[in-house]
Amino acid sequence: MQEKIDALQAEVLAAIQAAENPAALEEVRVAYLSRNGQVPALLAGMKDVPKEERPIVGKRINELKSAVEAAFDGRKSALEDAAGEGGDHDPTLPGRMPPHGTLHPVLALRDRCIAIFRRLGYALAEGPDIDTEWHNFDALNTPADHPARNEQDTFYLDETGLDSLPPLEPAGEGPAPALGRRLLRTHTSTVQIRTMLRQKPPVRIIAPGRCYRRDEIDATHLMSFTQCEGLAVDEGVSLADMKGTLEFFFRELLGPDIVIRFRPHFFPFTEPSFEFDISRPGQTIKGKQWLELGGCGMVDPEVLIAVGIDPEQYTGWAFGFGLERLPLVLHAIPDIRAFVENDVRFLQQLG
Ligand code: DAH
Repeated sequence: MQEKIDALQAEVLAAIQAAENPAALEEVRVAYLSRNGQVPALLAGMKDVPKEERPIVGKRINELKSAVEAAFDGRKSALEDAAGEGGDHDPTLPGRMPPHGTLHPVLALRDRCIAIFRRLGYALAEGPDIDTEWHNFDALNTPADHPARNEQDTFYLDETGLDSLPPLEPAGEGPAPALGRRLLRTHTSTVQIRTMLRQKPPVRIIAPGRCYRRDEIDATHLMSFTQCEGLAVDEGVSLADMKGTLEFFFRELLGPDIVIRFRPHFFPFTEPSFEFDISRPGQTIKGKQWLELGGCGMVDPEVLIAVGIDPEQYTGWAFGFGLERLPLVLHAIPDIRAFVENDVRFLQQLG
């Protein structure tokens, strides 16, 4: 039996190598490997082999089968390659890469901010771009005569034809306040209000999103930009938490050598309020040591009252900063309009 197997293996391998073209190779396959071929016939002969020898013979037949199959596959691709030569197929040409998109640089930055705050236990919160005067101003302790509410500074919507929008959420308990006109939100601080109306403390959210202001468009202004808002409300939350959190955040985002400073400022919705700047020691940005980034502070008790949270029990801190500003300054981009012009050559450099 052993000799018979050896002889058959030599015979098949020789036949495979001798096949000059795919058709000849197919004939070899049928003769030896198909159901009625000689290799399966060997297996049928196993029944005449003495019982003790069967494992050895079985193993040998399996070896033959894999040797023959490998030789068959090798010959097949060799014949195919040979057929391709001289044709128009050149397997040495580099493959064609489909064009790859990249995230817009501002969205990539947004995602990194979310990821860092997520590690601190902050949830992602959202609000509509079209909001109300109440959410954008009144609930944020911004009175009717505040300059930001001026027709020249904010986009108010013409209410005709807006019936298809979802109805406005009722605000808190008690008599519902007048929601005022609809507008394009001027900041993401509206999401503070919308979140606290839905959720009682503890609240920890980050809310990036688009904002709109009636600015004249030029190299440093757009009528729409992206902000990143944050809010933490709980019992015993203090300014120390705010400073520590923002310091941690900017070091994670920009590197461990970043320092942050807080300057007293005024915002209607925080008390006390600050503006914050960042700096990298030994380096200046546009000739300046400090880069002004955004605002922050302890949530004003009036804001908590507007959303039905007891300011005697809870305190909170909040911040907001513009997302275009960081890449704009860090990469020394001369014109902010580059972010909205959709020039792929620009976007891919930062994406
Ligand atoms: N909403 C402010 C703006 O658009 C930025 C800001 C300041 C947000 C202080 C805050 C804050 O949450 O606490 O200029």
